[in-house]
Amino acid sequence: MTSTDKNRVVIFDTTLRDGEQSPGATMTHDEKLEIAELLDDMGVDIIEAGFPIASEGDFRAVSEIAQRSKSAVICGLARAQLPDIDRCWEAVKHAKQPRIHTFIGTSPLHRAIPNLTQDEMADRIEQTVTHARNLCDNVQWSPMDATRTEWDYLCRVVEIAIKAGATTINIPDTVGYTAPVESADLIRRLIDTVPGADEVVFATHCHNDLGMATANALAAVEGGARQIECTINGLGERAGNTALEEVVMALKVRNDIMPFHTGIDTRKIMHISRRVATVSGFAVQFNKAIVGKNAFAHESGIHQDGMLKNSETFEIMRPEDVGLAGTSLPLGKHSGRAALRAKLRELGTEVGDNQLKDIFVRFKDLADRKKEVFDDDILALVTATTEGDDALQLVNLKVVCGTGGPAEATLEMEINGEDKSAVSEGDGPVDATFKAIRMLHPNKARLQLYQVHAVTEGTDAQATVSVRLEEDGMIATGQSADTDTVVASAKAYIHALNRLIVRRGKTGKDVKEISYRDVT
Ligand code: KIV
Ligand code: ZN
Repeated sequence: MTSTDKNRVVIFDTTLRDGEQSPGATMTHDEKLEIAELLDDMGVDIIEAGFPIASEGDFRAVSEIAQRSKSAVICGLARAQLPDIDRCWEAVKHAKQPRIHTFIGTSPLHRAIPNLTQDEMADRIEQTVTHARNLCDNVQWSPMDATRTEWDYLCRVVEIAIKAGATTINIPDTVGYTAPVESADLIRRLIDTVPGADEVVFATHCHNDLGMATANALAAVEGGARQIECTINGLGERAGNTALEEVVMALKVRNDIMPFHTGIDTRKIMHISRRVATVSGFAVQFNKAIVGKNAFAHESGIHQDGMLKNSETFEIMRPEDVGLAGTSLPLGKHSGRAALRAKLRELGTEVGDNQLKDIFVRFKDLADRKKEVFDDDILALVTATTEGDDALQLVNLKVVCGTGGPAEATLEMEINGEDKSAVSEGDGPVDATFKAIRMLHPNKARLQLYQVHAVTEGTDAQATVSVRLEEDGMIATGQSADTDTVVASAKAYIHALNRLIVRRGKTGKDVKEISYRDVT
């Protein structure tokens, strides 16, 4: 990218910060590293890797992502407080290209929280941005809730931040309140009005409360913003953030009316979308633009007929452009290990020899039970491969259920290497199974989410199950897949419990101790 390329839009991904912050989307350390690597490889310009002062876990993740970064700028979030900014710098300073992102809520409602007058807040902004700039020459500043901040005050604080050394000014629509005309107009007027505005990059950060996050971000680009903040699958607080895949593909497909470009390799979109859905436990809705299961499916007779004659009849982009393999053949029980590895590569998943061995065993078992093993089945197998050193492992499960009374689950588990069994009754097969698990591994984790999806069509389809548990503020998500929904449920529950055990074991409090909403 050259600074003279006026139509280049910088992609700032905040899946690991705003996305991960949304209740229940917590990722493990290794998952954060994996997602950061995928983002870097797909050409994301800036990765907001976390909020270093929030917890030890966040700090470790941001600093390791910074150390491993390749081309992307690595950014950390900090409130407008000197210790936050110092901690953020400690975490990002190892990156090839570090950035500090500091913010404060500037609207009347947000100013009331720390109880600062306009002048006091202006002083705080000057002091904190100056401090950040003394540490790092790449500083982003955000007036949180900018779209509900008084116009004169917004201009005043943006000018102060620029003078204090901010290199990027981000204009967040924190509560998803704005509309496209306003979004374009706000950026345009700020650039026209604020002294020094042409020396910095303006960014847009939209939330999707009214379903307008993508439209608002694109409108902001029309208004002069050259950085879009977004997340994979639109993950994020409440209704989420602008979805990366939507803005990137919109700019690509409608380049005729929006002559802007990004550095994203769009063929990597599908794979990262699936990985984020898996590790966050937030499944992608079937009809989600670009990455939904149905986004390129053509079921009706008229559509199928048109598609066969000319795919452009109903398709404005090619599935290959977002990384969906064309019409690849399913694998069957005679397929060997090499075919499986080739298929995994085609799906964008590289696995080590040991993991391949594991997946191959599961694949053979699945192929025995299911005539054709489709791409989605293979991906579900990858998701379902558990770590061999987990404290809790499912050995055997038998469930008897019917219309006449409660279901009965007979469960065998290995707990820290020791075989244990239990029998439990419950209100249906899943309830009986979960109760049996709790008999063998008593815990006070609360079930926050239980979700089942059929991976492919047919009664022999695999079910993927997500289970989210909460215990003392710690949240863990488990996933698994099996042609038997109850077995998949048991494995997903056990997976989540294993993650809670790991997290509890680390410090007993790898929990978000500070939220970025705690503005003091
Ligand atoms: O939505 C928001 O205002 C934010 C800021 C921290 C940029 O996420
Ligand atoms: Zn946000």
